[in-house]
Amino acid sequence: MLEIHKFSKIIAANWKMNGSIKFIDNFIDQLNLKNNHNKFVCTIICPPFIYSQHVSKQSDNFYLGGQDCSLFQEGSYTGDISASMLNNIGCQFCIVGHSERREKFNETDDKVAIKASNSLKNNIHPIVCVGETLAQKKNNQTKEVLAKQIRKSIPKNSNNKNTIIAYEPVWAIGTGLTPSLEEINDIHNFIKNEIQDYENFQTLYGGSVKSTNSKEIMKINSVDGVLVGGSSLDIMEFNKILSS
Ligand code: 13P
Repeated sequence: MLEIHKFSKIIAANWKMNGSIKFIDNFIDQLNLKNNHNKFVCTIICPPFIYSQHVSKQSDNFYLGGQDCSLFQEGSYTGDISASMLNNIGCQFCIVGHSERREKFNETDDKVAIKASNSLKNNIHPIVCVGETLAQKKNNQTKEVLAKQIRKSIPKNSNNKNTIIAYEPVWAIGTGLTPSLEEINDIHNFIKNEIQDYENFQTLYGGSVKSTNSKEIMKINSVDGVLVGGSSLDIMEFNKILSS
């Protein structure tokens, strides 16, 4: 597995269910031009499964990630993609437990933990997403919710060398809203230092990251990188985020 601690920053693009062959070819062309290979910055592209192999063939200065993986290893699970298949085409990372999957596909913490564990068994670093809803934030439940999600979604075979946490407040995803820099720092410090047995996991921030806020967010000491949705679909924006 990659030694993820050697990276000073991790910048991951989650394309969600967007893109096409034409989009990808244009994106990668322009990414290759601008993304001077910096061995301390880890750039990860997570395309829809169907395009993974097309992206992976061109991945000489970025890593390939999945957006999800199956609960199962192999067999009669129509439509599913296993972690071993992701490994087979060169994936080194896999997002698990994204709030869209938790909400729209009924993924529980237990299921997220199995997916993270399957990823690890196949030499893939899981990026385990956690985050509070707006109602939970308003009720001052953020830290309680995050601690519970982390304890239940991170499996026993995880440690701070093989697993990444992504803090993605649900209310910040795709809304243009973000927590203040102080709030991000406070939450990241909480995640990294205050949950017993889960200390010092590399922690990414996600939720309305753009070229206009990425520099400030990545300057925060407790932030190890960003997980970018909408702005990762615009190569000009994404190149700016990479160079911030
Ligand atoms: P946006 O950057 O579009 O808010 O999405 C964040 C996200 O969900 C990344 O996984």
